[in-house]
Amino acid sequence: MCGIVGYIGSRQAAPIILDGLAKLEYRGYDSAGIAIYDGENIEMRKAVGRLSVLENLTHGGETMKGYMGIGHTRWATHGAPSDTNSHPHMNTSETIAVVHNGIIENYIPLKKKLTDRGYTFLSETDTEVLAHLLDYYYKGNPLEAITKVLHRVEGSYALGILFAEHPDEIYAVRKDCPLIVGAGSDGCFIASDVPAILKYTRTVYYVENQEVVKLGKDGMQFYSVDEEEITKEPVTIDWDANAAEKAGYEHFMLKEMYEQPKTITDTISPRLQDDRIVIEELHMTDEELAAVKRLHIVACGSAYHAGVTGKYVIEGLARIPVEVDVASEFRYRNPIMEEGSLVIVISQSGETADTLAALRESRDRGYKVLGIVNVVGSSIAREADACLYTWAGPEIAVATTKAYSAQLVALYMLAVKLAQVRGTIDDAAAAELIRDLRRLPDQIELLLGQKEKIQRFANRYVGAKDIFFIGRGIDYAISLEGSLKLKEISYVHSEAYAAGELKHGTISLIEDGTLVVAVSTQPALYQKTISNIVEVKARGAFVMAVTNEENKAMEKASDYCVYLPETNPYFSNSLAIIPLQLFGYYVAVGKGCDVDKPRNLAKSVTVE
Ligand code: M6R
Repeated sequence: MCGIVGYIGSRQAAPIILDGLAKLEYRGYDSAGIAIYDGENIEMRKAVGRLSVLENLTHGGETMKGYMGIGHTRWATHGAPSDTNSHPHMNTSETIAVVHNGIIENYIPLKKKLTDRGYTFLSETDTEVLAHLLDYYYKGNPLEAITKVLHRVEGSYALGILFAEHPDEIYAVRKDCPLIVGAGSDGCFIASDVPAILKYTRTVYYVENQEVVKLGKDGMQFYSVDEEEITKEPVTIDWDANAAEKAGYEHFMLKEMYEQPKTITDTISPRLQDDRIVIEELHMTDEELAAVKRLHIVACGSAYHAGVTGKYVIEGLARIPVEVDVASEFRYRNPIMEEGSLVIVISQSGETADTLAALRESRDRGYKVLGIVNVVGSSIAREADACLYTWAGPEIAVATTKAYSAQLVALYMLAVKLAQVRGTIDDAAAAELIRDLRRLPDQIELLLGQKEKIQRFANRYVGAKDIFFIGRGIDYAISLEGSLKLKEISYVHSEAYAAGELKHGTISLIEDGTLVVAVSTQPALYQKTISNIVEVKARGAFVMAVTNEENKAMEKASDYCVYLPETNPYFSNSLAIIPLQLFGYYVAVGKGCDVDKPRNLAKSVTVE
């Protein structure tokens, strides 16, 4: 949600900043801007639209001379996307420039006070308050002005700041929004996320809440909000540099779908020892695990859908009650939690504001929180009591695929582990489940091999108005995710329903030719789902079924069948999602949509 890049060093800053912003465009892409100190003044360029507009305007940054600057790609919160509302924002004398990710919650009273003191605002943003407030407190010492501002503002922020009177330094600060700084041989960097600077350095520092960083071309210093100097240790990033590149694929989403077998192998392998599951990161003994009475899974979007699957699998195998909450609801419904409750928060980015708030709420109430997180060193990973990393590597496409698949297998491992320590399954059953887990990567590979077939089918639906997804039990969980995948990237309206629920209202939307995707992977429910298919077909629906090879009756019941390899029914979501991802992807491609950057969305949602 908004991307920030800053640079100070011996090279021309603007091309480096634009290059970094291009790697962060998944965080927001409705407008972009850059401010460069040119030796005398701060030169600023802003443009509504994709980053390419700004790149064209500045010839890839070549027209902006100078060795230090800050840049921003925006996902609008306060004020519509426009040149004026784009960042950076400056004080009236144009000597201070700020880029911001997050929300200043008390910007209205602050704006009023500043207006009363004669400040004039040009934009509708909350961020402009920061530029004027910095101006108000600035008496020649940037650090002093910044810390004074931090004491006044409420909300969440990651900031990059430039002072024209201090041409040898840029500043970075954050609270509840991601921000890292990096030290390279040619200078120092600020970035919202690692991919922006990976090309230039692998030595990064994670900035903690309310820390201020002063960056110069040869190094940086860290300060507390009370201006005391802090010592920090760098972290070396060991990602493959190609991980954040498209590597010949048309879209990041397609590449990431193809990375799913590896992602699953990387996530399960370190935790499978012969016929046992060993998750050291839990920091819980078998006895402590066995004593868990209730699980609360909290997450947003696809991570929430993974949680819904987790509920079915954990309740089924380990017989522990599991509640699943959308994170934005959890905090405000005053959930009833009891002694022995364990909270699991799931997040790819590890920065989702609502999920982070749910984590904090749970910890404040005294409950232990386990994070299932993809981004190493992210806020959720650091603040959770224990963190089970999903080793999916950087995920760039806004629509998640590989990180979601990794979340599923993390939950399966947890379910099997809990079932073993609680004695709800015996060793033989555990060994069989583990064998099936190990087979998932190859089975997914096989399904990905069907991409042309799914593409041909998807091409028939590029003009679709509504598409429905139905399933029972665990197949309902995957219907939710299949429907989200389709609608978020193709803009085709879609809903997911528990198959038996459709006739309680939604069936009135079925018309001649409406596509209904029916997922049916649970042998005990084959016949029930077929009955629901018969109901929608009687109203004119065309039915695509995603089912197991053994379900021969589906051939006749549906109009088009995709068969899945045989696995344990508890793991079937990991296979069923593949044709659904491919279907959503190819409908979007067929419609000419910007698959990796769907309209109105951003990859990491760091505002409530
Ligand atoms: O980073 P997180 O996993 O916490 O993100 C949660 C959701 O914002 C995310 O899954 C979103 O729904 C994706 N666009 C789904 O593809």
